[in-house]
Amino acid sequence: MNRRALEEQLVREILKDYLDHPRALRMNDFSQHGRITTYAHCYRVAMFSYRLIQRLRIKADLSVLLVGAFLHDMFLYDWHTIGRMNPYHATNHAELACRNAVRYFDIDESTQHVIRSHMWPVNITRLPRSREAVIVNIADKWCSLVETLTCRRGMAGHRKKR
Ligand SMILES: [Fe+2]
Ligand SMILES: [Fe+2]
Repeated sequence: MNRRALEEQLVREILKDYLDHPRALRMNDFSQHGRITTYAHCYRVAMFSYRLIQRLRIKADLSVLLVGAFLHDMFLYDWHTIGRMNPYHATNHAELACRNAVRYFDIDESTQHVIRSHMWPVNITRLPRSREAVIVNIADKWCSLVETLTCRRGMAGHRKKR
């Protein structure tokens, strides 16, 4: 088994109570960036967070890091539609995701902090104050950028073929 497969196996083991939970699976119903669903985005942020701490040899609480990363966008609505009606999506979805995570998974304070602070500096008052929160904040921004660029390239390619 290669390194990436081993990393994925470890992440899936830590998230085993979350990945197939019906409420978490609902994230598959919503698009996050183009063809990437919210579920796929959250899973990618969890994997990237894990790879970051491995590569940089950062010590972190793996459960807080990975559960926080996987549930960080569990707001459970289509933000493309709601966003037009609710211009505050960018600043309030972290709180909504956190409320859902507490309601369905009873997560601890440290994990709640990872979710609440993932939109800093857009949410200027929610400064990441733990190692896990900083990592997820960075991982989310990187994954969102890559997903957005990939999605645009895909769309441009599609238009060219027509
Ligand atoms: Fe978010
Ligand atoms: Fe996100």
